[in-house]
Amino acid sequence: MLKKLIGIISLPLIITSCTQAEAESVEVDVDADLEYCAAQVERSLHELSSDSTDYTMMPRNIASTDTVWHCRKATPDEWCAGFWPGILWYDYEMTGNEVVREEAERYTASLEYLSQRPAFDHDLGFLVFCSYGNGYRLTHNPKFKQIILNTADTLATLYNPRVGTILSWPRNVEMLGGHNTIMDNMINLEMLFWAARNGGSHRLYDIAVKHAETTMKHHFRPDYTSYHVAVYNPTSGEFIKGMTHQGYSDNSMWARGQAWAIYGYTVVYRETKDPRFLDFACKVADVYLAGLPDDYIPYWDFNDPSIPDAPRDASAACVVASALLELQGFCQDEKKSVYMDAARHMLASLSTDSYRSGAHRPSFLDHSTGHKPAGSEIDASIIYADYYYIEALSRMKKLESESSLMAKR
Ligand code: GLY
Repeated sequence: MLKKLIGIISLPLIITSCTQAEAESVEVDVDADLEYCAAQVERSLHELSSDSTDYTMMPRNIASTDTVWHCRKATPDEWCAGFWPGILWYDYEMTGNEVVREEAERYTASLEYLSQRPAFDHDLGFLVFCSYGNGYRLTHNPKFKQIILNTADTLATLYNPRVGTILSWPRNVEMLGGHNTIMDNMINLEMLFWAARNGGSHRLYDIAVKHAETTMKHHFRPDYTSYHVAVYNPTSGEFIKGMTHQGYSDNSMWARGQAWAIYGYTVVYRETKDPRFLDFACKVADVYLAGLPDDYIPYWDFNDPSIPDAPRDASAACVVASALLELQGFCQDEKKSVYMDAARHMLASLSTDSYRSGAHRPSFLDHSTGHKPAGSEIDASIIYADYYYIEALSRMKKLESESSLMAKR
């Protein structure tokens, strides 16, 4: 059924199995999974605390050979510093544990300075919307709101109207040969949409929409698989080339890049209700789903010739599971159930002993791949996998609560 919905895919993906579409729907024990996350959060907080806990040191990863969090200082170039505060906010939302909330406040506060300085690069959305965004959603603290609004204005300074996208890496303009935009940048648009709806300039909305349109035009191959990086002439706006940075090759489908595209276009549809973006979100999701192995957890790059011996990327599975739980809500009939079933399969696999960190590490999950070409964070626990895992579980929990309420009516 999945194949029928997806249609013909032209890129020669390395597909180990596509039988998942016919598989029975699986159950996810969301409450048990959230309890597991809560226990791992408590354990991490305990291991990270000392008489003088440094709240600017954020858990980033645990190497496959290690058992404790490797932390990095929340400096402007540490793009992952917002995920740990974000995890704490989600855990607080799910458990109501006030100790976790206090810790969330403290870690979040370490990122305030980002709203008071020029942009280092595009990652401001990851940094400030995962932390302050969730914090504001749960507390309505007006200070948090102002920090997000200021940061959205800072992010907008990287927008080039001649190109129609936000510059991702100012530091790499010369090396890459122009204005560069990476697929990950789609995630940062959510903060611009939010700011435009919450007292910021409407220009932020316009920038986000134009960025999504330009990316849709140039950042994808005809089969809807994405380049990681698009390079543009900063003066004429002309598209120069598509290439990779963290993937296997310029023309391969890097799993997390495609995951950012699925998540990003789902958000853009939510915010604009423009059917072009819904159609596109489905297309980029379908090509990803068609290339998954049996357990729905992708290899780090769908075109790595060493598959099935290549490392997996659980983080991409978490991002996509969370995105599909939103995307299915915008779809009808077969497509809705395909996306819902796929998200369930992803969460069910991630919640097995094969992917859980369990007793041997304080993270939620193992088996993510950060930057394989650089030999960095391969088959590791990585903080953004945990962030999107708990986000997906909380989305699933809310969907279950809504459907049980509907059943009672
Ligand atoms: N560059 C962000 C990522 O690894 O997805």
